Amino acid sequence: MAANKKVLMLPGDGIGPEVMGEVRRVMDWMESNRQVSFDTEEDIIGGCCIDAHGVPMKDETVEAAKAADAVLLGAVGGPKWDNVDFDIRPEAGLLRIRKDLGLFANLRPAIVFDALADASSLKREIVAGLDILIVRELTGGIYFGEPRGVEDLPGGGKRGYNSLVYTTPEVERIARVGFELAQKRGKKLCSIDKANVLESTKMWREEVVRIAPDYPDIELSHMLVDNAAMQLVRDPKQFDVIVTTNMFGDILSDCASMATGSLGMLPSASLGAPDASGKRHALYEPVHGTAPDIAGQGKANPLAMMLSFAMMLRYSFDMAEDADNVEAAVEAVLNAGLRTGDIMSDGMQMVSTEEMGSAVLKELDKIAAS
Ligand code: IPM
Ligand code: MG
Repeated sequence: MAANKKVLMLPGDGIGPEVMGEVRRVMDWMESNRQVSFDTEEDIIGGCCIDAHGVPMKDETVEAAKAADAVLLGAVGGPKWDNVDFDIRPEAGLLRIRKDLGLFANLRPAIVFDALADASSLKREIVAGLDILIVRELTGGIYFGEPRGVEDLPGGGKRGYNSLVYTTPEVERIARVGFELAQKRGKKLCSIDKANVLESTKMWREEVVRIAPDYPDIELSHMLVDNAAMQLVRDPKQFDVIVTTNMFGDILSDCASMATGSLGMLPSASLGAPDASGKRHALYEPVHGTAPDIAGQGKANPLAMMLSFAMMLRYSFDMAEDADNVEAAVEAVLNAGLRTGDIMSDGMQMVSTEEMGSAVLKELDKIAAS
């Protein structure tokens, strides 16, 4: 039996607990069917933590996350907490765990499963076969830059401001992640910036160019973010790996998600720098939010959460075969015509969150038996 994998589970708010529940079933399945055992701990984050403790994340939870081999997170936030103080809003919990764990590299693959090519708002021929990876810088840029705030103007009215700040080491480490991932894929890296207007991203581009000679096998290109948004809906297959700033990555990954049919399909991994022993902090979460309108009704799509779990197997636990199997099981249930509401289309079979989970487990059984 391989060593226990220590996983901190943070289901969060809204549909978070429901989709996390389906991942738990996959973990149980793996413990019974594969040579693996998970040592799990569960805690609260986001709005539910504000209700219980007055803050979106407790210090103990940060410590537990640091001690774990990996963190699995559902989603945080909801209208109930729209009016809490800005500093303690649910999203602040998410930003804190990313920052405190140093999770600077956010990997957001956008893959179109053939069975879902018609669920996309884009035409089938534009999206069929799409497989791109957005690498989003996650602990810097305008999300964290100082100064920031809102101040009263002497003559009345206010002045609100945020700062888009990047340093050489910050750009270099995320760019290297982009180059290295491109080496394992289609060997193309597109760095996205707004170098024609923003000095900090002009400097971003120069830093990327500076390290490019270390990766002679990679075809590097640069694109302005407005053009990139347009290209992602015009011809997304032109991209292989995209590397970009925190805010541009936030926006472009929602754009890219529509190619896949639904935000309910997109997983993500957020990785820190490896320490001397090669261990790195890591957090896995679906790109979707808490979907408060359908929370608690068994309607949520658990597949992005399951695919995030597969990314955890691949990146934190070196269990590529098991990750492949989870992904293959997801693809098989889609091929069989099972759909949650967000990806529903004519002639398909509408299923609940739990039914979708059960179908994935059945496919895993089949794969294990073959
Ligand atoms: C995301 C989300 C978060 C972000 C929010 C919830 C803070 O939109 O992970 O894409 O902006 O990073
Ligand atoms: Mg977002």
